[in-house]
Amino acid sequence: MDKLIIKGRRRLNGKVAVSGAKNAALPAMAAAILTSEDIRLNKVPHLADVTTMVALFEKMGIMTAGYTGIPATQASGKSITINTSRMNTYEAPYDLVRTMRASVLVLGPLVARYGRARVSLPGGCAIGSRPVDLHIKGLEALGAHVTIEHGYINVAAQKLTGAKIAFDTTTVTGTENVMMAATLARGTTVIENAAKEPEITSLAEQLVNMGARIRGAGTDIVEIQGVDQLHGCSVDIIPDRIEAGTYIIAAAAAGGEVEVTNCNPSHLDALLFKMNEVGVECTETGNSVLVRRKGDAWLKSAGMKTLPYPNFPTDLQAQFMVLMTQGDDTSVITETIFENRFMHVAELRRMGADIKVENNVAIVRGKTRLMGAPIMATDLRASASLVIAGLIADNVTEISRIYHLDRGYEGMEEKLSKIGAQIERVKV
Ligand code: EPZ
Repeated sequence: MDKLIIKGRRRLNGKVAVSGAKNAALPAMAAAILTSEDIRLNKVPHLADVTTMVALFEKMGIMTAGYTGIPATQASGKSITINTSRMNTYEAPYDLVRTMRASVLVLGPLVARYGRARVSLPGGCAIGSRPVDLHIKGLEALGAHVTIEHGYINVAAQKLTGAKIAFDTTTVTGTENVMMAATLARGTTVIENAAKEPEITSLAEQLVNMGARIRGAGTDIVEIQGVDQLHGCSVDIIPDRIEAGTYIIAAAAAGGEVEVTNCNPSHLDALLFKMNEVGVECTETGNSVLVRRKGDAWLKSAGMKTLPYPNFPTDLQAQFMVLMTQGDDTSVITETIFENRFMHVAELRRMGADIKVENNVAIVRGKTRLMGAPIMATDLRASASLVIAGLIADNVTEISRIYHLDRGYEGMEEKLSKIGAQIERVKV
């Protein structure tokens, strides 16, 4: 397993290009199951989770051309062409689904196209139990018959029929699964309390590009008019707003002047508002954000609560927590989306952070000079927060189990090295 070795307290200066969004690429790939024609996805990031989805597709007989092991520095991403005309199973096996929960996104497309699906229950992960009950309720509302046996979700449906579905919890992949399934249902489906993330909007745009009829994506209410079949298309994956936010926070924490390019600043309003509140200068242009932090004065401590988009994203909570160790007072951070998303706290404490956790609230004391230490990544976004901590800590920080990081960040050490970080990956 690889480790990252970081020598801290170096300012960051220069440009860092954001890659395609993991959480847009995965549903975009699943949507290819809805047609027998080619789906070409451009600007696909080279990430472990995308590789896992490619492996799942190959196991199902779905052809994926163009996604070879590209060098991680190629931030322009790759084009993948997916064709499902020779798919030979409706099953997504446990050994692949358990490594990546987003595999559950094949459920809706499989049922819509073939009337059948057998997908392993994803199981929980480090940050929470991650149930899929809302996905199942959504498909049942469309007329599917669902049973859970031996850890698998078995779904059968003659022909899905449009329905009104009101999610009692906003769910990103739940909205995506039902929206994809509804494109081939008979009649109209209305999803209420739909997730509004940019990745929902980009998936809807792709589906419309394929011939679907969808209105309201990006709002609370999405309406899908079922059609008989969908056709191929070619689309670009949108920039990764969480990767962009991670580098904005890294630059704010380390100090210096960094331009985060190839991003969509309008997807980052909640973070940019918070950056202004803590006293970090962020200047937006068309597709970049210029982050400036001069001097060594402490930042202004600010509270934060994670909520569904367009509020502050849970996927940037751990990174923001590290930033608040550099505040001038105390910051109260509340995690409302997942029940166990503070696992980075124990590792940050090893670096001298003073953070108290009470249920889903973390109380972060500022004015902390972090100290380098050997620490361990526990989940994807926590590992990004540990990298940021290593960038600002005294001396050397060693981060193990960075396979978590590779799930969602394309070539992070190369990108950070290019803007002045002293960071290297070592094989152990
Ligand atoms: C998506 O996960 C993202 N993953 C997550 O990013 C992100 O953190 C999350 O949305 C929230 O924004 C992908 O898009 C692949 P949810 P998802 O369904 O869809 C509960 C990352 O780091 N819930 O929106 O799995 C659930 O427990 C990952 O890139 C149910 O109760 O999250 C949670 O409390 C981590 N029943 C809340 O809803 C369900 O059937 C929101 O979860 C589904 C969800």
